[in-house]
Amino acid sequence: MTQKGSGQEGSSARETKHTPKKRRSRPVPATPVARAKSALRPGTLLSPVPVALVSCRGLPTGERPGANLITLAWAGTICSEPPMVSISIRPSRYSHQQILETGEFVINLVDHALLRATDFCGVKSGRDVDKFADCSLTPVKMATMDYAPAVAESPLCLACQVKQVISLGSHDCFLAEITAVEVAQDLVNQKDRLCLDKADLIAYVHGDYHRLGERVGFFGFSVAAPSVLARRMGPSAR
Ligand SMILES: Cc1cc2nc3c(=O)[nH]c(=O)nc-3n(C[C@H](O)[C@H](O)[C@H](O)COP(=O)(O)O)c2cc1C
Repeated sequence: MTQKGSGQEGSSARETKHTPKKRRSRPVPATPVARAKSALRPGTLLSPVPVALVSCRGLPTGERPGANLITLAWAGTICSEPPMVSISIRPSRYSHQQILETGEFVINLVDHALLRATDFCGVKSGRDVDKFADCSLTPVKMATMDYAPAVAESPLCLACQVKQVISLGSHDCFLAEITAVEVAQDLVNQKDRLCLDKADLIAYVHGDYHRLGERVGFFGFSVAAPSVLARRMGPSAR
């Protein structure tokens, strides 16, 4: 029994009156099928993630003054205004204290040419080896950084100033503002457009490194006009 002037019927009538009509869009053509699932232990399975080669240096007066490199998979974009990233590092890492001391690090994107060195920097500690020397990598000064060098061989480098450190458990999360960006000149085309898709970047998926494959869409392609789709994806795009 429905009571007059109250309950669901009344409120839905009000909603109908004030809710603007939803516009119909073209249906999304691909129809993925529902998949039966098995439960796994809760774990860090967000994938794919970037593999980042992070460079840093301790204070000249501190215990860890040399330039160092650490490989990180727990890195991500967290804000666009101001541009910010997070990296998560175990306190036991040699680089952890270096970054705490100076509040600086550089994220060097990893391409296929840098992959072997990147893996090496993820299994050896700056406590024991000079990773720049062992990997024949070149530390270079980067704009806005007083201490942390960039890796000259990387396709794109992000200079980062630490704003906050949050202890989460196994890892400390460094929230940092990106204060400068430098890109290899061959990744900028004649129209001054960044062509990061040409950088041969590496993704990390459940313990394995992967080269990126075919380009299969772009931001908003699911709702793009056919003429835009054809221009950006080729005439056979749907
Ligand atoms: C692919 C890969 C991803 C890694 N991701 C992280 C990470 O996100 N956080 C972390 O603390 N260590 C990570 N490590 C481990 C460190 O890179 C490794 O312990 C390194 O030797 C630390 O160097 P350091 O002692 O000179 O700081 C990763 C290693 C690899 C190979």
